[in-house]
Amino acid sequence: MPHGKFIVALDGPAGAGKSTVSRLTASRLGFTLVDTGAIYRSVALLATRRGVAHTDDLALGPLVATARVRFELRGERNHVFLDQDDVTDAIRTPENSLAASTVSARPVVRDGLLSLQRRLALETADPGAVLEGRDIGTVVFPDAEVKVFLTASVDERARRRHQELLAKGDAPPLTRIHDEIVQRDAQDSGRAAAPLKQALDAVPVDTTGLTLQQVVEKIVALVERRRGA
Ligand code: DC
Repeated sequence: MPHGKFIVALDGPAGAGKSTVSRLTASRLGFTLVDTGAIYRSVALLATRRGVAHTDDLALGPLVATARVRFELRGERNHVFLDQDDVTDAIRTPENSLAASTVSARPVVRDGLLSLQRRLALETADPGAVLEGRDIGTVVFPDAEVKVFLTASVDERARRRHQELLAKGDAPPLTRIHDEIVQRDAQDSGRAAAPLKQALDAVPVDTTGLTLQQVVEKIVALVERRRGA
C-alpha cells in the first residue's frame, strides 16, 4: 500500500448503483466513505451562494481552494458539511445537480479538488477508504489497491431511476428518463476534462440483474483477495 491506507476506487456512470454500493461496502469493510460527487455538488452550491458563475474559472479557483467539505456518516446517511452547514439535501436539488455537472467540467475545479479528495481518504483513522466517483481509478488514485467500474444497462438504470422517483411521489415517463440517461452518458464520456472512462486495470462489475448484496459481496471478495495477496 503506497499510502498506508487500502484504497477502493469505485467509478461508473450515473445510475449504476454507486452510492448505495459504496456506502454498504465501506460499512462492511469498516472503511471511510468519500462521495466525490458530493464534493463537486458542494462546490457548485458554494459558487451559487457566493454569486459566482459556474463557468467563471478565475473566481472558481480561489473558491475551490478555500472550500471546506467534510462527511459524517450518521446511521444510513452520509451527511455532507460545507463549513458548519449541513448541505446533505441542498446539494441534491435538480438545479444544483446541473450546476455540479457544469463546475465538474472545469479543469480549475478538478485540479483544485484533487488534494481534498486524497486527504479525505488518507487522513482517516480507518484502515482504508472507498471513494465513489468518475475518475478515482484513473486520476485521483491511479494506484488504488482495488478498482471497480460499476455499470448497468441503460434500460436497468432508467428502470431504477423511474422506481426511485415513483417512490418519492411522481415520475416522468420511462422513455424520457431513458433518453436523459443516454444524453448524460454521452456528455460525461465526451467532455475534455477527465471524461468518464474505465481504468485499464479496473474490474468491470455489471449490476444488471444483481441484488445490492450480490454486488457488495463481489467487491468485498476483491478486497479480501487483494489483502490476502
Ligand atoms: O455522482 P454525482 O451525481 O453526485 O456527481 C455530481 C456531478 O459531479 C456529476 O455531474 C458528475 C461529477 N463528478 C465528476 O465529474 N467526477 C467525480 N469524481 C464525481 C462526480
